Amino acid sequence: MKPIKRIGVLTSGGDAPGMNAAVRAVTRLALYKGVEVMGIYNGYQGLIEGNIKQLHERDVSFIINRGGTMLYTARSKEFCTEEGMKKAVAQCENFGIEGIVTIGGDGTFRGAGDLTDHGVPCIGIPGTIDNDIASTEMTIGFDTAMNTVVELVDKLRDTSESHARCTVVEVMGREAGDIALQTSIAVGAVTAVIKEIPTDFDHVIDKMIEARKGGKRNFIIIAAEGMGHQYGEELSAMIEQRSGIETRFARLAHIQRGGSPTLRDRVLATQMGCAAVENLVEGQMKQVMCLRGNNIVAMDIYDALTVDKLMKGKLTPEEEDKIPPNKLYDMKRIVADKQAYKNYLNYIIDHITL
Ligand code: F6P
Repeated sequence: MKPIKRIGVLTSGGDAPGMNAAVRAVTRLALYKGVEVMGIYNGYQGLIEGNIKQLHERDVSFIINRGGTMLYTARSKEFCTEEGMKKAVAQCENFGIEGIVTIGGDGTFRGAGDLTDHGVPCIGIPGTIDNDIASTEMTIGFDTAMNTVVELVDKLRDTSESHARCTVVEVMGREAGDIALQTSIAVGAVTAVIKEIPTDFDHVIDKMIEARKGGKRNFIIIAAEGMGHQYGEELSAMIEQRSGIETRFARLAHIQRGGSPTLRDRVLATQMGCAAVENLVEGQMKQVMCLRGNNIVAMDIYDALTVDKLMKGKLTPEEEDKIPPNKLYDMKRIVADKQAYKNYLNYIIDHITL
């Protein structure tokens, strides 16, 4: 195999704290191995447009602590067309890019798979606050976003306590309720409302009324945005009407995506960035870096996307039939473990709050 001389790195989709730490790790380890690094700005759109600049050691100094992404990000419609893909491949040839580390969510991985199929080897790193990449135990940015939520909800709880109110808080997570579930435990919420587990509102309201009689003043309910547009506002009105407890609604929105990454995200991003470079220079491709226990392991990008579909209930029976049984068994186990963990967290919330 001809040794790789130059790789690219890009961030795509929604930004996540820790993406910079991953870019830094990719750049530094590649340079250490004698491989040049090209920073691709604005995700796949920047690749198509040739918005590309060489990165040296010092270009990635003092970014490990910064939120956002120094490479910027975009969601590119053009990249999803055959024409756009051809332009992207041509730019890789122009700039001598022999492989790319792509950092982002499932859309980023679909792009990385396609690009690999068109002759540019890619390796994906999961960077999204939602933690909705089922193949990894944790995505980059998830931990920081949850800590931000905890800090903000603690403030909301202060005012809820003063006014003896309930506050319904909507947190991010289009396809996954992970942020809602874990932060609910951390802030002592009454319940987490997520798509993955149905909520028994009769039970929640009874609990609230009983707790109010026992002297409880503040109540926090955390709902994932994946419940739907305006869901939080409607839930808030319903809680007030049925419980008789004055209720406010707060949407935390994009504030959850910013800020300096936590230690956990910096370490995860660094580990994944290094593993991606190791694999790419060894000639591996079309992989997603996944955290399992304390290890970073690789999973085929299309398999990782299939596990995501399974988790989100979007895999059709026809697609399922095409998967070899042993592989399907492994995928179903990953999904079952994740769901069991969510059920367990939900059980804890239900039994120890109030
Ligand atoms: O995928 C991460 C995420 O923050 C989701 O939680 C949210 O639904 C979405 O991105 C928001 O996207 P945008 O920044 O394009 O509004």
